[in-house]
Amino acid sequence: MSVFTSDLTIDGDYASLANQARALLAGESDRIANAANLAALIFQAVPNLNWAGFYFVDPRGDPVVGPFQGRPACVRIAPGSGVCGTALVSGRTQRVADVHEFEGHIACDPESRSEIVVPLKLDDRVIGVLDIDSPVAERFDERDQAAIELLAGIYLESIRKPSDPG
Ligand code: SME
Repeated sequence: MSVFTSDLTIDGDYASLANQARALLAGESDRIANAANLAALIFQAVPNLNWAGFYFVDPRGDPVVGPFQGRPACVRIAPGSGVCGTALVSGRTQRVADVHEFEGHIACDPESRSEIVVPLKLDDRVIGVLDIDSPVAERFDERDQAAIELLAGIYLESIRKPSDPG
């Protein structure tokens, strides 16, 4: 089975992961609960990750760490700083082949070598980012990026829906 995004076909393991994410988040719209479960699912399913999780913009406008899997992370990032802050301010996904080459990269875990950060846009407002890190340089290609963007979209869709009281 394949899932189409704007310019790439997601198939195989990522199509299955997208379906698992939809099933996992169905019926619940709590943004923390769904972020926690999606971070856990990504961390379990995607090979060679050392961190997967969320930063959410707080009322002051700073990205603050949210639910994640991996080593304890930097709590608060200045907007525009590092890979996460750049994704947040630019509103564009950042796919970094080697974080050592990214000026201003914030090394929460010195083992991280490559990274994808997807901004989470709700009604044209960036509410946070979804971040995955790998200890392997050049771990991610455009298909990984399309898949993580799709998962971010599934998350955003889920938090719009009213929760099912069960
Ligand atoms: N490396 C990120 C900080 C977040 S951690 O990777 C979890 C950055 O430069 O924004």
